[in-house]
Amino acid sequence: MTEADAEAVSAMVLRVYDQVLVQYQSTETLSAFREHETPESLRQQLGRKRLFVVEEDGRIIAVGGLGWMDAPYLPPEVQEEAYLPGADRRITNLFVAVDRIGQGVGRSLLDRLVALAKAEGAGRLRLVSTPNAVSFYERAGFHVDPHPPTEVPEVTWLLQHLPTD
Ligand SMILES: CC(C)(COP(=O)(O)OP(=O)(O)OC[C@H]1O[C@@H](n2cnc3c(N)ncnc32)[C@H](O)[C@@H]1OP(=O)(O)O)[C@@H](O)C(=O)NCCC(=O)NCCS
Repeated sequence: MTEADAEAVSAMVLRVYDQVLVQYQSTETLSAFREHETPESLRQQLGRKRLFVVEEDGRIIAVGGLGWMDAPYLPPEVQEEAYLPGADRRITNLFVAVDRIGQGVGRSLLDRLVALAKAEGAGRLRLVSTPNAVSFYERAGFHVDPHPPTEVPEVTWLLQHLPTD
């Protein structure tokens, strides 16, 4: 994803909110999450994680990110450890366009993000899932984290160990 994609990604993701997530999350939670999906926020997020888009015939049909377990998950004195090669990574911002949901796009993008984290030497991958997507992630090798790094209402932390070859 480039800065120029931010408007299109934001519009695609907010349609998913309005047409899918509205069925699973409270209005309060969704309105807080929406702040994270504005073009301005997405451009800022590019400075602290890598975001990828899937394009089809020039149209963005999915987005997904790979980031670190940096602030606010680590205390400031060990913040630098967040960026060591073996440090935990985080799958972020995974959304598929409403009309392409359930056609393999999300799994394919997720598998690419997992492979990238593994290739970079990450030992574990974490993510927060909305209630509707927990079993999607479980099918892809994640499990519910018994020790979640934070408690966030209406989401579930999931974890996958990445074995070194
Ligand atoms: C969740 C999401 C990313 C999954 O992507 P997708 O392209 O729809 O999923 P896929 O078609 O690749 O499905 C892969 C597998 O997961 C299953 N699956 C997909 N969505 C699922 C769901 N919500 N619950 C349970 N299983 C699901 C599929 O049946 C498929 O199973 P299979 O491997 O046995 O065929 C996508 O549906 C989406 O963006 N949903 C709305 C927003 C959202 O919930 N985002 C996650 C925020 S954490």
